[in-house]
Amino acid sequence: VQSQLERDEKLKKICQLLSDSVSYYDWVGYYFANHETKTLHLGPYVGAATDHTVIPFGKGICGQVAESNANFVVPDVKAQDNYIACSITVKSEIVVPLFVNGKNIGQIDIDSHVIDPFTTEDERFLEFVNEQVATLF
Ligand code: SME
Repeated sequence: VQSQLERDEKLKKICQLLSDSVSYYDWVGYYFANHETKTLHLGPYVGAATDHTVIPFGKGICGQVAESNANFVVPDVKAQDNYIACSITVKSEIVVPLFVNGKNIGQIDIDSHVIDPFTTEDERFLEFVNEQVATLF
């Protein structure tokens, strides 16, 4: 456990490293859940600025993952009804929940500018990344 400032600096570096390392990771960020207000709040991220800094549980891909506690891979965002568009350049998305002591406290959200780039390898990799991130809490 460490200060929120230290943690946010590390998370930002992790987002940067992921975005630099994988060509189709075009926007990489963390959202954190407030279970009292049932809202997600944008944390450290790398990529275009987004208006969606607060997302109610249930809304969009991120909001659905807050409730399902499961990975959500979207090969083509156009095919989703419950989707919050951040930018017209985004074609696909993957969201993987972040568990700390079994509780879904947030998620990593990655947007891509290409269609259908995410495989089960991305899911396993991002689950691993989140297991490491969980040790910061
Ligand atoms: N597309 C997301 C909203 C967050 S932005 O991708 C940064 C969603 O539908 O939940």
